[in-house]
Amino acid sequence: MTEMENKAVGYTVQQGVATITMQSAPVNALSRAVRVGLIDGIESALSDDSVSAIVITSSLALFSGGADISEFSGGDLSPNLPEVLDKIENATKPVVAVLPGPAFGGGLEVALACHHRITFAGNQVGLPEVNLGILPGAGGTQRLPRLADPATALTMIVTGKPTSVVKLPGVFDKISDKPEHLLEDTKQYLASLNAENCIKRTSDITLTMSEEVQGVFDAVTAQTKKAARGFFAPLKCIEAVKGAYTLAFEDGLKHEGKLFMECMNTPQARAQQHFFFAERAAGHVSDFDKSTPERSIEKVAVIGAGTMGGGIAMNFANAGIPVTMLELKQEALDKGLALIRKNYENSAKKGKLTQEQVETRMALLSGTTTYDDLADVDLVIEAVFEKMEVKKTVFTTLDKVCKPGAILASNTSTLDVNEIAACTSRPQDVIGLHFFSPANVMKLLEVVKAEDTSADVIKTCMKLAKRIKKVAVLVGVCFGFVGNRMIEPYGREANRLLLEGASPEQVDRVLTQFGMPMGPFTMGDMAGLDIGYYVRQSRQAFISHDPTYGAVADRLVEKDRNGLKTGRGAYLYEAGSRVPIPDPEVLEIAKQEAARLGVTQRDDISDEEILVRCLYTLINEGACILEEGIAAKSSDIDVIYVYGYGFPVYRGGPMQYADEVGLGEIVDKLSTYAERLGDYGKMWLQPSDLLIKLAQERSSFAKFKN
Ligand code: 3HC
Ligand code: NAI
Repeated sequence: MTEMENKAVGYTVQQGVATITMQSAPVNALSRAVRVGLIDGIESALSDDSVSAIVITSSLALFSGGADISEFSGGDLSPNLPEVLDKIENATKPVVAVLPGPAFGGGLEVALACHHRITFAGNQVGLPEVNLGILPGAGGTQRLPRLADPATALTMIVTGKPTSVVKLPGVFDKISDKPEHLLEDTKQYLASLNAENCIKRTSDITLTMSEEVQGVFDAVTAQTKKAARGFFAPLKCIEAVKGAYTLAFEDGLKHEGKLFMECMNTPQARAQQHFFFAERAAGHVSDFDKSTPERSIEKVAVIGAGTMGGGIAMNFANAGIPVTMLELKQEALDKGLALIRKNYENSAKKGKLTQEQVETRMALLSGTTTYDDLADVDLVIEAVFEKMEVKKTVFTTLDKVCKPGAILASNTSTLDVNEIAACTSRPQDVIGLHFFSPANVMKLLEVVKAEDTSADVIKTCMKLAKRIKKVAVLVGVCFGFVGNRMIEPYGREANRLLLEGASPEQVDRVLTQFGMPMGPFTMGDMAGLDIGYYVRQSRQAFISHDPTYGAVADRLVEKDRNGLKTGRGAYLYEAGSRVPIPDPEVLEIAKQEAARLGVTQRDDISDEEILVRCLYTLINEGACILEEGIAAKSSDIDVIYVYGYGFPVYRGGPMQYADEVGLGEIVDKLSTYAERLGDYGKMWLQPSDLLIKLAQERSSFAKFKN
């Protein structure tokens, strides 16, 4: 047995088999050390006469998470991954990839370059590069189609979704029924190799573009244009895969390499790679560490079985955690529980759940109208009306009935969590858990830390989020926290633009072309314009110095134009339809309001003005949030916006987008419109101190540390 000095990759030889083991935690990213280890391993095995076969495997629960994404921004890349794979594929002794767990991206590309692949039935593999704004750049677009059927290969590469290995019979030479059998099956497989079958190079397979394959390309292209609107990489993926059918292997590789670089050099790739790390960094918070204890959460209660309460409860039932829902009246409780059942039944009808799963989840949900039934729960989430007095009554009661150590959380979207905590005798146990609607669907959870919230409560909630499949971001207390506070200027400017003469469809078009899933007017109509109306009513102190604030929206609500639910809002809706129809009456209302308020309507409102006023003001508010420490880092804001508001991930989130545009440009444009819009501009469009400071230092939000 020979051993190599490479901590990232182990090497052993036993009974004529050299085993090269990737052992670079946490995910066997194919860093330089791993690439060097793989090459050294192959070279050692080829030069050792006692070795007749080579195994490449992993000591971790996964085979490999692919290329080391942190190396994309530079560093010593030699030997590069294609060189490593070339070495593997051209080895003169059989190389067998043994996958004890998932292989993604470059990890799967390593396996595809081997001569044989073995895994177990429950495993998954994928080429998720497209999610990073790039395409598989180490032969994945050329080798996978040579082994898998065209539709599966193309779909895997274009969508980046992981696929069960059992759907890839051509890729795997042996699929063990259980992971425990992998070792024994590998031994048997190695023993079965003979001179004829021992070296099978994927690159030797020739493909042709038949009519049937062309049909697959046409269908996937049409589907991709719809599903991946605005994204650059997916269509480049299709172009690269086409090379597998139309070019010789070597030329296909070169074509893939060229397209890979085209993708890599785009703002989209930078944005999506930023977002990959942003999502993970959201979990790294300085408020707790490994030594901070966690509280056990095995029983949950939700107060209020309305829109949010029902959705919140479903998250826990989905994760197998029992939930008690409390309402004051039995009727409201029955209604809430019936709605949850209806939601589950709908999922069952769509084939997303079995009837058995529906019943298992419903069995985890119980209802009560008595607070005494909450004595033994570990966590309570309050989701009653958004009124401070009501919340205070609930928390005072919870303080009396809940056991010591229970976490008391509020789902408030705007109210002061410190004030709520102060009405209990245990403010250290009080926290905000701000779910987004629909709460059973949206991935984002703003975890709101109040002044006295203890570290173990924060840690418990951040970890619990993972259990219920949410992405948690820790934020501080202020009106609207991060997400809703930043959406305020966005909505404010959209409404003011309407007053100044823009149409709802013009504003919506600019923002959807930017990549938002829907424009602010369509979004407002869907949420209900009355919601914003009541928020404005309750925030007179904040807006009273500007009589034009939300003026058109207020008039719409007063005319019973509450949005989709009343068939009229900023748009018209035909019965049963969600398609917004432009309505001249809205423009007329805006015209009358403008005349009443002394605002001159203009017909020269450009797309740029709309973008700057809606989006750059949102970014400007983000800068204030960062400066105040409400968000710990700019990437947290990006995570909130992508997961909570559908901000296009190919722009990385608002703060990454601003960094990409350049903060100097953001300051210039805001200042230009602040000046151009006179008193209104001075009131709302001035760049914030932090934005100006970072722009002057030619710095970025990403570099800002509070
Ligand atoms: N490169 C660098 N770091 C990586 C990484 C990678 N490919 N994959 C994961 N990491 C890091 C994460 O940033 C995280 O770091 P942290 O602890 O400091 O936050 C740590 O590894 C653990 O990651 P997760 O929290 O995501 O761990 P999970 O167990 O939940 O998931 C995974 C594991 C499914 C592998 C997931 O990490 C993942 O999806 N990784 C990325 C997979 C991918 O996109 N691969 C393609 C890379 S590009 C490529 O291969 C190009 C090639 O074609 C040339
Ligand atoms: P909702 O009106 O649909 O539901 C509130 C429920 O609470 C009702 O069923 C009501 O009967 C019940 N309730 C009222 N007072 C109660 C009390 N004292 N004890 C027990 N039950 C009581 O309201 P929704 O939309 O679910 O909002 C709830 C909370 O969630 C609010 O704080 C809101 O700001 C917040 N929120 C709402 C979002 C949304 O999009 N609807 C998004 C994020 C947070």
